[in-house]
Amino acid sequence: METPKQNHIDKADYDYVYEPAEDSFLLIDALEKDLQYLKNKNPTFCLEVGSGSGVVITAFSMAFPTTICFSTDINYKACDMTKSTAINNNISVETVNMDLASSFIGNKFDIIIFNPPYVVTESKECGGCDITASWAGGVKGREITDRLLDMIPKILTDEGIFYLLLIEENIPNEVITIMLKYGYKSEIVMRRRVRNEDQLVLKFYKN
Ligand SMILES: C[S@@+](CC[C@H](N)C(=O)[O-])C[C@H]1O[C@@H](n2cnc3c(N)ncnc32)[C@H](O)[C@@H]1O
Repeated sequence: METPKQNHIDKADYDYVYEPAEDSFLLIDALEKDLQYLKNKNPTFCLEVGSGSGVVITAFSMAFPTTICFSTDINYKACDMTKSTAINNNISVETVNMDLASSFIGNKFDIIIFNPPYVVTESKECGGCDITASWAGGVKGREITDRLLDMIPKILTDEGIFYLLLIEENIPNEVITIMLKYGYKSEIVMRRRVRNEDQLVLKFYKN
């Protein structure tokens, strides 16, 4: 998968929006690893939750030009940046400023992607709408992620796939157990050690 151009972004804008980092590129690499599998699924609708700068959903859209792509972010400046990243790479992403996928309940996506705020913090640090929302994950670094897990059965098609980036501190086995209760199988698509972080991309699916 091609890395989207980011030369339209002023470095100072990253004071307000998450700057793409190793986790963003691990997610893109995981999607690339599954490229043929995803092409066989021929997805109609894809949603990235928490799109930040928009590099992940833009990379996806560039590889899947017929898939209708949506993104959300709690940080409206991230929504603006996602939109401009899409435009600067000549693709289209419908970008909505919302909490997770709350306003999409009842609509179904074939692919859902999430690189959450995964850093373990105190609960009171998490739940903001600014740059802190990029990293502050609360207890186990999972407070935001766990809320999305509960939404997945309501927004993912039965044939759909959910890609989620986690670190070991998030206790991935607990996430796998939660998703199993909702009827999802899981696989580790890719993992990488980045400085002191063990990052992994999991995928969840029913069929
Ligand atoms: C680790 S950053 C990932 C950004 C981008 N997807 C990437 O991989 O570079 C997490 C993103 O999730 C967003 N976010 C955090 N809480 C959210 C929520 N409740 N609803 C929607 N987006 C949220 C943050 O604003 C941030 O853009």
